Amino acid sequence: MKLDITKAAQFLPEGKVASFEPAVNAAQKALEEGTCPGNDFLGWLHLPSETSAEFLNEIKQCAQVLRENCEAVVVAGIGGSYLGARAVLEALGDTFSWLKPSDSPRILFAGNNISEDYLAELIDYLHGRRFGVINISKSGTTTETAITFRLLKKMCEDERGKDMARRVIVAVTDAKRGAARTTADKEGYQTFVIPDNVGGRFSVLTPVGLLPIAVAGYDIDALVRGAQDMERATAPDVPFDENPVAQYAAVRNALYQSGKKIEILVNFQPKLHYVNEWWKQLYGESEGKDKKGIFPATVDFSTDLHSMGQWIQDGERTIFETVISVEQPNHNLAVPRDEENLDGLNFLAGMRIDQVNHKAELGTQLAHVDGGVPNIRISIDKLDEYNIGQLIYFFERGCGVSGLILGVNPFNQPGVEAYKRNMFALLNKPGYEAESRAIQERLK
Ligand code: PA5
Repeated sequence: MKLDITKAAQFLPEGKVASFEPAVNAAQKALEEGTCPGNDFLGWLHLPSETSAEFLNEIKQCAQVLRENCEAVVVAGIGGSYLGARAVLEALGDTFSWLKPSDSPRILFAGNNISEDYLAELIDYLHGRRFGVINISKSGTTTETAITFRLLKKMCEDERGKDMARRVIVAVTDAKRGAARTTADKEGYQTFVIPDNVGGRFSVLTPVGLLPIAVAGYDIDALVRGAQDMERATAPDVPFDENPVAQYAAVRNALYQSGKKIEILVNFQPKLHYVNEWWKQLYGESEGKDKKGIFPATVDFSTDLHSMGQWIQDGERTIFETVISVEQPNHNLAVPRDEENLDGLNFLAGMRIDQVNHKAELGTQLAHVDGGVPNIRISIDKLDEYNIGQLIYFFERGCGVSGLILGVNPFNQPGVEAYKRNMFALLNKPGYEAESRAIQERLK
């Protein structure tokens, strides 16, 4: 992975990025020494280097049971309990896999909404199929996930029998607390623990992400290896100028202070759509607090050049872009020659589609920089497990360091509770009687 901040730094006074070196060093030190706010949630920091081959084998063995017994596996989870797995699976998978036969179970996602139509249509699809469930919830009490799991558990038991359900339902949850743990222990499901000190949005390299990724047949050893290499490349002893996390955290904080309040994560590969979604949660939930924080937005180019392109080129100048560029495609496809050339495209004949895409990428970068949009560029060699592992750890550490420079606790999410309290009050959840009365008054 390479990071280029030159086309962002040119929008800042000379030496501005370098002036963040002491703040970056202090943040890195606080992470390493566990002295920062949220220091009880730093388990992700050395997770890659602490992940053993035995542990990965345990995950692979469980994945094998699901692979042998299921044609579909539903991952029930929300937020950090689903976005990481989905990001990796979509980045690595065949875009049209749902239309093609496969030896691997189809991975489906649920528990991230409360749509009756979504759940009814999912159940309709699963009906008569050999399916399993990975129930992922750190708290074990998240309503969206719990409702979904209740439905799927019953259906799995009804259709596949209690014994098989016990084999193909796996829980990834807290070691002791929560309804997901209670149910798993009572029913005898295999379980994996989400470590206490790893928050949801930092958990993709725990079984939260690794198990679904392994069930889909991807190489979790290579994923973790990529993250391990990035852990070394971004360690505090790597000099400021050579450390991609230091550079990224410094430049985005410098831009924020100069009035660039919105960061748009850009890809030119539709397969990265969910990497964008994962990143949005990671940075949004970590930094958006205490009335501060860069607003994380995302676009998929070229698609969104024809929707958001106008705004980005010409709208209010409060944005900067971070582009994830993939150097090499995994396929080989060129523009064909056409004798009649009715579409006038023969000037591209023989050119790889990816070369055209890279020209679109460069042309967009030049246009947006001309339009006053600072541009950060992250390039990875290709979409494979190793490179995605690198990207994950880079963004996680970048988020921790950035948030500490910003002066917030990057590892909590108190704001997420507000809607839950209202929803529980409106649903008359036991224990919320006072809130129920108060909210009924407000709604009069
Ligand atoms: O990052 C986070 O902590 C959150 O997004 C959680 O992952 C999300 O709210 C789901 O929580 P839980 O895993 O407890 O069901």
